Amino acid sequence: MSSPRLLVLFGSQTGTAEDVAERLGREARRRRLGCRVLALDSYPVVNLIKEPLVIFVCATTGQGDPPDNMKNFWRFIFRKNLPPTALCQVDFAVLGLGDSSYTKFNFVAKKLHRRLLQLGGCALLPPCLGDDQHELGPDAAIDPWLHDLWGKMLELYPVPPGLSVIPPGVLLPSKFTLQFLQGLPRTEEQPEPMADPQGAPSELQPFLAPMVSNQRVTGALHFQDVRLIEFDITGSGISFAAGDVVLIQPENSASHVQRFCQVLGLDPDQYFTLQPREPDTSRPARLPVPCSVRHLVSQYLDIASVPRRSFFELLAGLSPAALEREKLLELSSARGQEELSDYCTRPRRTILEVLCDFPHTAGAVSPDYLLDLIPPIRPRAFSIASSLLALPGRLQILVAVVQYRTRLKEPRRGLCSSWLASLDPGQGPVRVPLWVRPGSLAFPETPGTPVVMVGPGTGVAPFRAAIQERVAQGQTGNVLFFGCRHRDQDFYWEAEWRELERRGCLTLVTAFSREQEQKVYVQHQLKVLGPLVWRLLDSHGAHFYLAGNAKAMPADVTEALTSIFREQGGLSGPDATSYLTRLQRTQRFQMETWA
Ligand code: 2AM
Repeated sequence: MSSPRLLVLFGSQTGTAEDVAERLGREARRRRLGCRVLALDSYPVVNLIKEPLVIFVCATTGQGDPPDNMKNFWRFIFRKNLPPTALCQVDFAVLGLGDSSYTKFNFVAKKLHRRLLQLGGCALLPPCLGDDQHELGPDAAIDPWLHDLWGKMLELYPVPPGLSVIPPGVLLPSKFTLQFLQGLPRTEEQPEPMADPQGAPSELQPFLAPMVSNQRVTGALHFQDVRLIEFDITGSGISFAAGDVVLIQPENSASHVQRFCQVLGLDPDQYFTLQPREPDTSRPARLPVPCSVRHLVSQYLDIASVPRRSFFELLAGLSPAALEREKLLELSSARGQEELSDYCTRPRRTILEVLCDFPHTAGAVSPDYLLDLIPPIRPRAFSIASSLLALPGRLQILVAVVQYRTRLKEPRRGLCSSWLASLDPGQGPVRVPLWVRPGSLAFPETPGTPVVMVGPGTGVAPFRAAIQERVAQGQTGNVLFFGCRHRDQDFYWEAEWRELERRGCLTLVTAFSREQEQKVYVQHQLKVLGPLVWRLLDSHGAHFYLAGNAKAMPADVTEALTSIFREQGGLSGPDATSYLTRLQRTQRFQMETWA
């Protein structure tokens, strides 16, 4: 009997789940199992009932939500009218990726596992709960789980007679082959038609938005470069409301592209076409046909990301140099994980830097393997900071340029924020690929509902959009708690807020953390105004919003809020907690946080 085809479906937000899914695919191929690896929302979910064997790899994001590329699947699988035997033919296993510092740790994986059982599926194993907080990362849970999984799989589907398991050091064929063209292509570089040209811009068809302005809004003494960036979206078909986010597809810097091509011995001006080796692997829709090496490296390959373990495993297989190969194998082995973390993960060493450290290997990498080796650049999400009602045809964002030091000589820089900051529309036209989607904040539709918004730092961005929108609609009851370090350094939109206060459209409460001996934060001010906050929430049906940096701030603000429920509302501890839960359940407490 021939082995069934394994299906690996992933829901991935930052790329980790996708990487794990690809690793599962490779390990399956080594065991001679046919295998497809797909994003959950790229798979026609009605076919699931016919699948014999499915592994789900699912991340849990922020507040226990599924990643964007499995949201449709998530809605479908929880439909009430699915028969309880729908998946009775399906053997499955769920591998979860989460972070135990969040309360809803691996919520998606656990809930999916239960739901699949409910629909008659047969679980091969209990779910795997990978944890970012573990000092060895999620692999600490994944490695032993995979060991058990493959043990089980080989029992059920032994390797066919005459064949054996392909050991890890042996190279598997690449997913694609690259055919280089002689000279320049006859036709212009054209992306393949992918999406409905009439539809709104999307990941497959972003809008190339002209950048109108890119202005530093923090003072010269502030530690951080924060930019207010404006795009012209006239004629794009893009529409958005307060709370929505814009996705931006960044690119690598020209100097990184040049360095990469140099180390790999690639000619950036050469063109190629890409052929999948297996019939059900599709070409990356974002790449034009034919494509130049420069385009591939600058727009597609995430050479500035920190490589994962699978990168080292594959690179070892591609290495002709004994010493380098040995080192790479060590870094990809289970016992080399502490060293890998020390070499790469902790100091945030990038793929490009690793390739420079292994020059004999890098110089020998066959271009066919580039797409197996290096993940695609992911779009980055920013809260939209303006309203179409106040600024028609425009879209603004507030971007903190990410830069920090590790023990490496070069400072670490965020790919997207640094790229955006480097663009100067004063020097000539600049266009940025973008599209929008709903965020996790939605503002009340019922007129007259007050809103209390807490947004320290760049967390104020979505509230700028909400306030503009609500003021344009004539809505009052806008209360904003804003926190920053110094009023003359990082107090974004001060003049605008003052004008709205003057007109009676806004109540602004500020917390300047570094203008006195003791830190003053938004949660302190929230407590000072506890009676007002309680009255708005309890008697006027206000909605409460929180946005900003995800470190301690969300928990601190939430704690301040429950203390207001106790002190102003006279609720007991447990009653204050259930009051908060009720607000969350009815969408009257919402938050959007980012790392
Ligand atoms: P700090 O940097 O002086 O500690 C925007 O970043 C503002 O949020 C700054 O004033 C910052 O103060 C403040 N902030 C830092 N940690 C916070 C927390 N846990 N809760 C609320 N605000 C915080």
